[in-house]
Amino acid sequence: MTTGRPPYRLAFCPRHEAERTLSEPAELRKRFGAKELAELEALPERRKLDRVAGRLAAKRALAAHFLDEYGWEADPAELRVSNDDAGRPRLTLPKGAPAPAPSFSISHCAQGGASAVAAPGRFVGVDIESIVPRPADVIAFVASPGELAAGPDDPEAQARLWTGKEAALKMLGLGLDAAARAVRPEADGVTLTGAPAKAWAALGSPRVRLDYDGVEGARIAIAYTGD
Ligand SMILES: CC(C)(COP(=O)(O)OP(=O)(O)OC[C@H]1O[C@@H](n2cnc3c(N)ncnc32)[C@H](O)[C@@H]1OP(=O)(O)O)[C@@H](O)C(=O)NCCC(=O)NCCS
Repeated sequence: MTTGRPPYRLAFCPRHEAERTLSEPAELRKRFGAKELAELEALPERRKLDRVAGRLAAKRALAAHFLDEYGWEADPAELRVSNDDAGRPRLTLPKGAPAPAPSFSISHCAQGGASAVAAPGRFVGVDIESIVPRPADVIAFVASPGELAAGPDDPEAQARLWTGKEAALKMLGLGLDAAARAVRPEADGVTLTGAPAKAWAALGSPRVRLDYDGVEGARIAIAYTGD
């Protein structure tokens, strides 16, 4: 958990809330615009719940951001969230919106969806993962030799390592082809090499920090830039 006020807004939408919203068309229409509903409808059934959980968390975090930073009471349905060609979340604001679109990030797992929105001028990435045992070869795929030697062999340590890496990759806008081994979470930040280091340099090499949070059964990591 973080203390004080971190330079991002974090929101969580539990799975049961996403299920309820998905099953009630009137509730869906209150929170999603026409384009978002059409995109949701086009998804395979198994992906709809994740999509709704992540989007509801994002709209909640975005609305809190706009209210706190700009005094703007945004309607969730007018905060249109889509994805760019690389899958990164993108926000389209209504015409005349009194604020710019911030950096934000979305993640989902069995427990629900999480989203983080960065304070102005910062970048953010979030990852949520269920705390479950992971096979050794899966951990070996993302862990550097030093991290493996430290033995992340209990589910909590594995979830922490995994979410820390993935939150940093998402903050950098990197997807499947990025090397998770090139992201090493450390006590006071993250060490980056390879492709993640290049993406970080393109942002102007800001300081990167990692916070951890959680909900029942899941670990959340938030990577963000700045002091
Ligand atoms: C893209 C990726 C980060 C998504 O991770 P995931 O665990 O499958 O899914 P999550 O629920 O955490 O995140 C999905 C969200 O990530 C976001 N996302 C997708 N591509 C992204 C990118 N290139 N950059 C930032 N965010 C991205 C989207 O918002 C997506 O949700 P949506 O489609 O509902 O909008 C992941 O598939 C990936 O490519 N990881 C590469 C790094 C890796 O090997 N990680 C292993 C663990 S360290």
